[in-house]
Amino acid sequence: MAGKYLVHTFGCQMNAHDSDRMSEVLEARGWLVAEDAEQADLIVLNTCSVREKAEQKLRSEIGKLAPLKKRHPELVLAVAGCVAQQEGEALLGRVPHLDLVIGPDNLAELPDLVREQQAGSPPRARTVFDLSSPRFLPASPRPGRAPVSAWVTTMKGCDERCSFCIVPYTRGPERYRPHEDILRDIARFVASGAREITLLGQTVDSYRDPALPPPAALDPDESQFPELLRIIARQVPELARLRYTSPHPRHLTPSLVRAHAELPVLARHVHMPVQSGSDRVLRRMIRRYTRAEYVRRVESLREACPDLTLTTDIIVGFPGETREDFEATLDLVREVGFVGLFGFKYSPRPYTPALKLGDDVPEAEKSERLARLFEVSEAITQAHLGRLVGTTQRVLVEGASKDAARAQGRTARNEIVHVLVPPGHDATGALLDVEITQAFKHSLAGEPAPGQLAAMPARAQQPAPARRTRRSLPLAP
Ligand code: SAH
Ligand code: F3S
Repeated sequence: MAGKYLVHTFGCQMNAHDSDRMSEVLEARGWLVAEDAEQADLIVLNTCSVREKAEQKLRSEIGKLAPLKKRHPELVLAVAGCVAQQEGEALLGRVPHLDLVIGPDNLAELPDLVREQQAGSPPRARTVFDLSSPRFLPASPRPGRAPVSAWVTTMKGCDERCSFCIVPYTRGPERYRPHEDILRDIARFVASGAREITLLGQTVDSYRDPALPPPAALDPDESQFPELLRIIARQVPELARLRYTSPHPRHLTPSLVRAHAELPVLARHVHMPVQSGSDRVLRRMIRRYTRAEYVRRVESLREACPDLTLTTDIIVGFPGETREDFEATLDLVREVGFVGLFGFKYSPRPYTPALKLGDDVPEAEKSERLARLFEVSEAITQAHLGRLVGTTQRVLVEGASKDAARAQGRTARNEIVHVLVPPGHDATGALLDVEITQAFKHSLAGEPAPGQLAAMPARAQQPAPARRTRRSLPLAP
């Protein structure tokens, strides 16, 4: 029996993507979105376990739902995502008011599993990886209602096994989606109004598909990701921008760098997690590159695409990280000039090899290092944004800004811009030349350059707010 549902998303873009697919499989079976939890017949918590804090957040959210479940025993309460995969059956034992535990590879089964629960089945955990025939749920945006900037998954799982990371255990080994399915998703989004696509994968640049031409290099480790980018650029010429996240530095090959020089559709921003600037720490993290190799790749990207911006992920307080190691990280942040970064305190995770290294950097020291990291990073962001005041930038408008008189969009380099839009016009989906007038802490403000009004149709309806995404750095104020 279909009813009303809510999906609550924690964590990364991968999870946001899974939540969209869950909504689609439910809606295809007649389910509707509930206005609030009181009304819902099904609540799904789509969880993250990459750091302990994220896991604690889930526990407190589940706890909060206990009284609701008591009042409405017919409510089906489900946990999906990485905590579900990690804990499986055990979670049912620990949370008595929980009905369903469903892993990331079992999302298509959600409507049937819920139906079983509604028919009175005992609580159930379904967390099986689809290793032999991986399944990727196709996107089905509503006609005309796709977001201006849409996400398309290209792979799942991760084979890297960085020593701190739980993802290979909660998402399984790498499995790639056939390029034709990827192209179909992109075509569907573009036909429904999307102008920008971000390709999504844990190590998005390790992509392979036997149906694509073999890589240019004879290196057996070389991926076919550059081929995928070229085929998308060729077959979807109406696409305004193509992004990808997140590449692993070791797969950022000369062929991928060449793609940046050759394909104008590729955005001039790369989010490439570095994690640390110390070779000793990188080795213990099993990142499989040195600081110098990372820097060389950044340099070749910048040679191919001179005004490209870089953002990154950094972990502070990894086991054994000394002050000197941390200083090396700060030094790398300055050397590369990351215009934005996500910084995390190391958090020991079950199953991961780093567990046996202990967790010897005291919490207070981790906090101090993180604060210093952000200080250095913010200064770079400020200087970068300040330099753009007085220039004209091409902005893809994604939707309404918090300020009613403005729309929000991004440049190809991923700077967020709040654009003044004359009353009665809707700029959503337009590519506008914008004169930058002001820099905020994490974003810019500007006005359409002369003659740009023609690119903005008269407003038919209130524009939807631009989607906030974890992976769009710098963040809005
Ligand atoms: N390859 C993925 C990374 C997923 S995890 C991607 O697409 O970006 C996202 C980030 O979380 C990592 O880059 C890392 O900086 C951080 N992280 C992962 N495990 C962590 C841990 N145990 N403690 C602290 N931060 C962690
Ligand atoms: Fe995690 Fe490293 Fe893969 S950070 S997702 S194991 S590339």
